[in-house]
Amino acid sequence: MTPWIQKLHKWVGLIIGLQFVIWAASGLVMSLLDTATVNNQHHLAPAAQALPWPEAEISPAVIVARESRPVQMVETHWLAAEPVYRLSDGASSWLADIRDGSSVPVTAADVAAIAARDYVGDGRPASPELMQENTWEVRGHTGPIWRVAFSDDDATTLYVSGQDGTILERRNDTWRLFDFVMMLHFMDYTRQQDFNNPLIVMAGAGGLWLALSGIWLFFASFRLGEFIPARWRPRRELTVYGADGGKLRSVESHSGDTVYLALGRNGLQLPSNCGGGQSCGLCVVRVRGHAPPPSSADRMHIDATRLRSGYRLACNLPVTSDGQIEVAGGAALWTERVATVVSATAVTPFLREFVLAPEVPLGPEFQPGAYLQVHVPGYRLQRNDLDHPELHRQDWSSLSLPENLVCKEPVRRSYSLSLPVEKAGGNVTLLARFSPGRQGKKQQPAGKGSTYLYSLKPGDRVCFSGPFGDFAIKPGAKEKVFIGGGAGMAPLRAMVHSLLESGAEERIHFWYGARNMREAPYVEEMEALARKHANFTWHLVLSEAAEHGAGLIRGLVHEATDEGLLQNHPDLKSCEFYLCGPPAMLAATRSLLARLGSGEEHVAYDDFKI
Ligand SMILES: Cc1cc2nc3c(=O)[nH]c(=O)nc-3n(C[C@H](O)[C@H](O)[C@H](O)COP(=O)(O)OP(=O)(O)OC[C@H]3O[C@@H](n4cnc5c(N)ncnc54)[C@H](O)[C@@H]3O)c2cc1C
Ligand code: FES
Repeated sequence: MTPWIQKLHKWVGLIIGLQFVIWAASGLVMSLLDTATVNNQHHLAPAAQALPWPEAEISPAVIVARESRPVQMVETHWLAAEPVYRLSDGASSWLADIRDGSSVPVTAADVAAIAARDYVGDGRPASPELMQENTWEVRGHTGPIWRVAFSDDDATTLYVSGQDGTILERRNDTWRLFDFVMMLHFMDYTRQQDFNNPLIVMAGAGGLWLALSGIWLFFASFRLGEFIPARWRPRRELTVYGADGGKLRSVESHSGDTVYLALGRNGLQLPSNCGGGQSCGLCVVRVRGHAPPPSSADRMHIDATRLRSGYRLACNLPVTSDGQIEVAGGAALWTERVATVVSATAVTPFLREFVLAPEVPLGPEFQPGAYLQVHVPGYRLQRNDLDHPELHRQDWSSLSLPENLVCKEPVRRSYSLSLPVEKAGGNVTLLARFSPGRQGKKQQPAGKGSTYLYSLKPGDRVCFSGPFGDFAIKPGAKEKVFIGGGAGMAPLRAMVHSLLESGAEERIHFWYGARNMREAPYVEEMEALARKHANFTWHLVLSEAAEHGAGLIRGLVHEATDEGLLQNHPDLKSCEFYLCGPPAMLAATRSLLARLGSGEEHVAYDDFKI
């Protein structure tokens, strides 16, 4: 349920968040405005001395008896300085002469006198104007209304009832501003002064939901233990086993730690590209015994079969009691290796090959398909520290990279072997794509790991650990189809070389997709392999229309493979597939193979998430 709430929380948060900003800003403005000024008290004349009421010549009872309308109330009243009776039927009111009971109209001269008696200040009144239509400044009032505007700084305006000459409203610019922000505050866009309007009810309900879902997400993202210092939490023992079942070591941790943290503190650094952020999916371990129910992050990165077998993300797996876990990687988890850069060669503008000579010879566990974790130190580089060959300078100058390229904290990044170690004379060969970060308006910083690699020069020292991963050539001689794109060339190339070097006789197909010829790495090398080995075929697929030419396949690599091989293959079920490339390509190819009936057990892939 959490990912669903997270998504909704984000979008409701965006909409309600805007209203929160409006609520806060309008509330602040209202609280800063002086109430007396809003109510026009500074232009209100002190109450005039009460005048003596003249002796009336006609009694109110006679007036009421003469009226054709039902009279509910009669009271004495002053129209400017004129004594009158004010009569009311509950809905409207009118004035009657105290001498003969005749009707007294409210004239422009009366209104001018009333306004002049009510106002103090240096403004001059304009002539009273009988409003043809009531505006929002006199909302809530009915009947004829006179308007008198004053020429002061506040644009004071008095509204006088055309029925009985009472002052209905005193408005000014401060009030107008207050009224505008109050409209925003109460979402009262129809200006009905209705605080129960549907908009505010919806926003209030949305805000309450946002707060409640925020509390839910808070507790779903953190464990209670994280708020208690480690020394106050009970100690737990974790026994760590290798994937082969052999015991590696026991480590001490505290209840509430994640397995990822507990192992890291004891020098067993699980592979990770996200530093324990539950987003890279590399820190998978298997719980021996009873595994806790999988979380949404587990389900996102681990398939159902492995979840059932107890595999979980270590960075999302709390230590609650003494327990046993299995990790892949064995000694590689705590062995830091050091190598010297032999060469850094630009294969395409944004794919670079690095050959590293390790200080200590590598063992047989460094197999094609495996990846290393390069230890990227904190650094501060200048843009010019990234050197490029002349023919790629234009590609790089079109990128907008900042002058300073900074990595504040050490991080680790995964890179696959791109040649078998034996073929590289015992060296490690990597192929790294540069991550420039999103370009354009919403620019993002360049990738930390790839920037570091691209700054390396022959003679530099690099630390790494590994090998890791379960992407490997399966035993047996089944026909093999490699489908890849981008930096996915790295492990596929190593696998193809390894198979051909070891004398594999099964048919091997390599379909590789790039945008254009300039971005396609190792084309000549693959063509040479295809000429040398009759069982190996190489197909370069280019997606950019301009590259369409003789002998080139145009389109998307999975579609081209489908058309050129899979659709007409007599026995697809006897093939093995090895996939590696950009996420979209990987997803499209996997769903194509699933549609064609190739079971998951025949499809191996590595997801670089780039
Ligand atoms: C098993 C495995 C094997 C791999 N093998 C290879 C390989 O052989 N070759 C290869 O090239 N790659 C490989 N990768 C990918 C590699 O590990 C890195 O993920 C990749 O190089 C990018 O890392 P980075 O440090 O350069 O970018 P990161 O710093 O991790 O950034 C990733 C992306 O996010 C952007 N970004 C950075 N900071 C921000 C921010 N603040 N806000 C928003 N966006 C931001 C960056 O611009 C970049 O595009 C592999 C990955 C895995 C999991
Ligand atoms: S460390 Fe990346 S998902 Fe666990």
